[in-house]
Amino acid sequence: MAIVQVLKNAQEVARAAAAFIAQRINANPKLVLGLATGSTPQGTYGELARLHRSGNVSFAAVTTFNLDEYLGLGGDHPQSYRFFMNENLFNKVDIDPAKTHVPSGVARDPAAECANYEQAISAAGGVDLWLLGIGQNGHVAFNEPGSAADSRTRVVDLTEDTIAANSDGRFFSRAEDVPRKALTAGIATIREARSLLLLATGEKKAAALHHALDQPPTLDCPASLLQAHRDLTIICDEAAASQLRAR
Ligand code: PGA
Repeated sequence: MAIVQVLKNAQEVARAAAAFIAQRINANPKLVLGLATGSTPQGTYGELARLHRSGNVSFAAVTTFNLDEYLGLGGDHPQSYRFFMNENLFNKVDIDPAKTHVPSGVARDPAAECANYEQAISAAGGVDLWLLGIGQNGHVAFNEPGSAADSRTRVVDLTEDTIAANSDGRFFSRAEDVPRKALTAGIATIREARSLLLLATGEKKAAALHHALDQPPTLDCPASLLQAHRDLTIICDEAAASQLRAR
């Protein structure tokens, strides 16, 4: 059963999400934490860094796994997700860099990199809590519409709408600069996490969130495949919740 918390704006979502994550880390300092990139979790990472600075949370024993990475981008590329994570969170807290995992976009054998990533998650005992965003097209990580419910970490093609969403100036400014492929954790990889925390902010996410939560699960909306998860929390703002059925 999903728990949906609707807050006033993105800033409140960031604060609530950071408090949620910090509480889980304080309850289990060795938490295996799944992470996401994009505009949505940026505020949450800022708040987590603030909580760390004020002595309210330590990442010293935390292990992290990120959802995805662009194929072809190394960690020193400013638009790579490894770079994003270092800048937004890892460099600002006391996490052991060796315990942070992001699939490598420049692995010589991307398929082997994906298989190794699944193995690393298993070896860590599975993910305790995975922080997620949702795309305007309903994607989760780079699981685009049509992704199978039993999909695992793999190389995928990005859809045109995802390329457009990621070249609106927030990250890339030109569609031709956005890589066409990515490595992404699969729907099954994500569903196996013991808890899921999905964030959505802004009216651009309203239709996707409505499809994800109010309609029967469908491959057309990958986020809807998470509905049946036994521990799914959604924290969103009023704009993203504007099309949700009253609950
Ligand atoms: P965003 O991306 O947070 O940048 O909107 C979310 C997503 O595409 O999953």
